[in-house]
Amino acid sequence: MADYGFGNPEVIEEEVDILIIGGGMAACGAAFEIMRWVEKAKEQGTDIKVKLVDKAAMDRSGAVAQGLSAINTYMGENDPADYVRYVRGDLMGIVREDLVYDIGRHVDDSVHNFEEWGLPVWKQPGDEGKKLTEGGKPVRSGRWQIMINGESYKWIVAEAAKKALGIDNIQERVFIVKLLNDKNDPGRVAGAAGFSVREDKVYVYKFKACLLVCGGVVNIFRPRSVGEGMGRAWYPVWNAGSTYAMAAEAGAELTLMENRFVPARFKDGYGPVGAWFLLFKAKAMNANGDDYQEQNYEDLKPYGYDAYAVGFKMGTCLRNHLMMKEMKEGRGPIFMDTPTAMAKLAETMTPKEIKHLEAEAWEDFLDMTIGQCGVWAGENIEPDKEMSELMPTEPYLLGSHAGCAGMWCSGPEDLPGVPDHYHWGYNRMTTVKGLFTAGDGCGASGHKFSSGSHVEGRIAAKSMVKFVMDNKDWTPELDRPVEDIVEEIYKPVRVYLEHKDYTTAIDVNPNYITPRMFQFRLQKIMDEYVGGVSTMYQTNAAMLKVAERKLEMLREDSFKMRAKDLHELLRAWENFHRLIAAFAHMKHIQFREESRYPGYYYRADYMNIDDDNWKCFVNSTYDRHTGEWKLKKVPYVQLIKPAEDEPEGIGRPGCAV
Ligand code: FAD
Ligand code: ADX
Repeated sequence: MADYGFGNPEVIEEEVDILIIGGGMAACGAAFEIMRWVEKAKEQGTDIKVKLVDKAAMDRSGAVAQGLSAINTYMGENDPADYVRYVRGDLMGIVREDLVYDIGRHVDDSVHNFEEWGLPVWKQPGDEGKKLTEGGKPVRSGRWQIMINGESYKWIVAEAAKKALGIDNIQERVFIVKLLNDKNDPGRVAGAAGFSVREDKVYVYKFKACLLVCGGVVNIFRPRSVGEGMGRAWYPVWNAGSTYAMAAEAGAELTLMENRFVPARFKDGYGPVGAWFLLFKAKAMNANGDDYQEQNYEDLKPYGYDAYAVGFKMGTCLRNHLMMKEMKEGRGPIFMDTPTAMAKLAETMTPKEIKHLEAEAWEDFLDMTIGQCGVWAGENIEPDKEMSELMPTEPYLLGSHAGCAGMWCSGPEDLPGVPDHYHWGYNRMTTVKGLFTAGDGCGASGHKFSSGSHVEGRIAAKSMVKFVMDNKDWTPELDRPVEDIVEEIYKPVRVYLEHKDYTTAIDVNPNYITPRMFQFRLQKIMDEYVGGVSTMYQTNAAMLKVAERKLEMLREDSFKMRAKDLHELLRAWENFHRLIAAFAHMKHIQFREESRYPGYYYRADYMNIDDDNWKCFVNSTYDRHTGEWKLKKVPYVQLIKPAEDEPEGIGRPGCAV
C-alpha cells in the first residue's frame, strides 16, 4: 500500500463469538438480554464473547435519538391476536403473523423494564406513582399506544444495555461497511469490517453469529426540505440503508422491499401526528374546512381499496391516499385543526388544566421533534389559535414503524399452523447462516415501534446464543484477505488522494464524484422515476425501466466516489448502502404488478389491488458479483382468523404463487 499519510489506516482485527451491529432499540434490547444467556452458557462451561459496535454514540443514536412522547406498542389488557389483526390491517393484509404475534406476546416485558429503569409513563388520575406492573393504568392515546415523558428515552434504554454488556464490550463511532462470508461456506457469515469515523483505523471482526440492526433508510428520495432545510427529514439521517445493503450483499433474502413509509406530518418540521389524532382528537381538513376523509370515501372503490377498509377504519396508507386526492385536485393545503381540538378538550377543564394541556401540545414535539417547535415559534403559530399544515413526506424504507421492508427471517417454532417456509432454524435468523436481525431489519412485520424493536432484539439475542452453543467447535474463516478488505473500504480515500491535484478547486474534478453530488443524483432518479414527491408517488413500468438504467450508471460511477476526510468516507459508504437499498426498492416495485399500498406509492399502470395474483410476499436476492437481482413470489399464510369487523380483503386467502 502506498504511503499517503492520511489513508494508511491502522488495522485492528478482533475475534468474538457474537457481534451486535448497531446501537439502537433492537441492539439495546439484544445487549440487555444476551448476558443472561451468556451466563447460562458459562455455567455449562462455554465462554461466549459478545461485542456491540455503533457508528454513533449509543446514548443518542438511532430513531429514538431525540426522545419520543409515546410507546406505540403496549398490549396491556389486549390480546396479541388482536394486535396481529391490527398490524395486518394496516399493512394491507400481507404480514408474517408468526413474527407479529411473537412481538405481541413479549413486548410488555420490555415496557415494564423501561419503567423500572426510570422512564416516566403517564398514568390515569388516581394511579399516579403506581407502576404498570403494580396495576397502574397508563394513559392510552390509542388502543396500542401509551404516553410517556420520553425526552431521555434512548439515554435510559442505552444505559441499561451498557450496564448489562459492560462498557469494554462496546465500540462506538465505528461504521460497519461490509459483512464477510465464510471461506468454506458462502451461505454463512463469518465477519464484518468497518472503520472509525474519528481515527484512521479499520476494524475487522470475526464471529460465529451477528445481529445486523442498523435501522432503515432515509435520503434515497429527494427530500421535501432542500437548500436551507436540507438534512431535515422525518426519519433519522444516520440510518442509511446499511441493514438492507449489507444483508443483500451477504446473500440474505429480502422481503417486501416494495413497501415504504410515507408519513403524513406537520409540514416542514416533520412533527408527529399520532398524539394529535388519537389523544387530542383533532381532525384534519382541506382548505375549505371539509372532512376530506368522509368526502372521499367513495374514491376507495374503483380500484378495490375499499376491501381493505371498514367504514372510516383504515390503515395508514389509505388515510394518505384520501389526503393525496385532495392535494392532487387542488383543495390543499391540508390542515390539522388544533384550535378546535384544544377548545373542545378545554370545555370541561379548569384554567390550570388548560395550561397543562397547552404544555402537552408543545411537549409532544419537544420530546421527539424539536424542530417542529422551531417552526411554531418561528412562524408565530399558537396551536390553540391557529391551525397547522400537514404534508405527506418523501418515502422511507423501514420495517418497524408503519412499513414492513426488511429481511426474510425464520420465526418462532411453537405457534400452531406455521408453514415450513416460515420456520427453518433459529428465531430471527435470516436465510444466511449466523446472520440475525430485528427492528427495522426484520421484514413483513411492521408496527413494532420502539418497544417491539427492543423486544425483538431480545428474542434474537436468545436464539443467537443457542446458535453459538450449537456451533461451539466451528471456527470462522473470512473469504477474503484482510488487506483486500482494507483497500476496498479506503478506496474513496485513494481516489481522492490520487487525483486531488489535477484541479485547483477541490470539488471540481473529472476523476471523481463527491458523495454530496452522488446523493443528489440518486435522489433525483428515485424521486422522478420511482414514485417520489415530484410525481405524487406515482410510477409505472416505463419509468422504472429508465430508473433501472440510470441506477446502473450510477453504480458504475459509485466506484469513483471520493473521500477527502473521514467524514466523507462515512458519507461515501452511506451512499453505497443507499444505492443498494434503492435498487432493491425499485426492483420490488417493478416486480409487483399492482398498487398494494395506495397512498405510499402507485403503479399507475396497475392501479388495482389484485388479491388473485398478488396476495403474497415478494422476496429477492442479490448477487454482489454480478449485480443481478432475483425476485420471486412467496405464499402468504393466514394464521390468525379474521374478526367479524375486519375488512373483507383481509379474509381472502393468500394467492397461489
Ligand atoms: P434504530 O433505533 O434507528 O437504531 C439503528 C442503529 O444503527 C443506530 O444506533 C445507528 O447509529 C446504527 N447504525 C446505522 N448504520 C450503522 C452502520 N453502518 N454501522 C454501525 N452502526 C450503524 N416508536 C414508538 O414506540 N413511539 C414513537 O412515538 C415513535 N416515534 C418515532 C418517531 C420517528 C421520527 C421515528 C423515525 C421513529 C419513531 N418510532 C416510535 C419508532 C422507533 O423509533 C423505531 O421503531 C426503532 O427505533 C427501531 O429500532 P432499530 O433498532 O431497528 O433502529
Ligand atoms: S410517531 O412514531 O412519529 O409518533 P405517529 O405520530 O404517526 O408516529 O403515530 C403514532 C401512533 O399513532 C402510531 O401507532 C400510528 O399508527 C398511530 N396513528 C397516527 N395517526 C393515526 C390515525 N389518524 N388513526 C389511527 N392511528 C393513528
